[in-house]
Amino acid sequence: MRKKIVAGNWKMNNDLNQTILLIEKLKKIEINEVSVMIAPSSLFLKTAKDLLDDFQIEVVSQNVHQENKGAYTGEVSCDMLKSIGISTTLIGHSERRAYFNEDDEVLLEKVKYAISSGMKIIFCFGEQLIDRKSNKYFEIVKNQLENTVLKLDSECWSNIILAYEPVWAIGTGETASPSQAQEMHEFVRNCVSNCYGDLISEEVSILYGGSVKPSNAYEIFSNKDVDGGLIGGAALVSSDFNEIIKANS
Ligand code: 13P
Repeated sequence: MRKKIVAGNWKMNNDLNQTILLIEKLKKIEINEVSVMIAPSSLFLKTAKDLLDDFQIEVVSQNVHQENKGAYTGEVSCDMLKSIGISTTLIGHSERRAYFNEDDEVLLEKVKYAISSGMKIIFCFGEQLIDRKSNKYFEIVKNQLENTVLKLDSECWSNIILAYEPVWAIGTGETASPSQAQEMHEFVRNCVSNCYGDLISEEVSILYGGSVKPSNAYEIFSNKDVDGGLIGGAALVSSDFNEIIKANS
């Protein structure tokens, strides 16, 4: 049975005190069968990890560099993450693609490097508004996957979580409708199945991200191919994050 997951991507929010305060609140959340993850700033990953030592919330990284070490000012490597106990990282978030010019080629390097380093990845992808309006969204998503994760060997797939995040729904308040989410998730699962077979495609968790809130989470998560969410803004408010976790239980 594939995992149900709710992951909070804090992006560039929360200083040290705010990070500690939010984590203290999250510790009170009752978690049952859902895997819960948070991705604070890389600066506070170790603090978060220490605070959550005995709790069922995994601390994950928002990004990782594709090289193991060297002259890459400001970057963080898998070895660095692993040395503080972080074993999962987001890769390919649309904000990394848009503002830091991360194209499929770089993302493939990152994905290969992270997995060969023994890390798990949450691989993000999704179409822009213009692609949605021109009915090219299936084609765009298929390309994003074919250029990256679908190039990997089948053994890698136990370390991959997918996150469909339509760019037009991120931080806009406009969510994909449950049927839009379901049809894309089903399409993505079929793409995985065509390359690796049903055993792998049925096991991979596919999260939805883009303006998930307590008011729409249940409806989105109820779809058979939606295994949870990657949450931005609502993950910064503990009560909202709690409601979203409950909606996936
Ligand atoms: P919002 O939930 O704020 O739309 O952000 C989604 C997201 O980008 C998660 O990675």
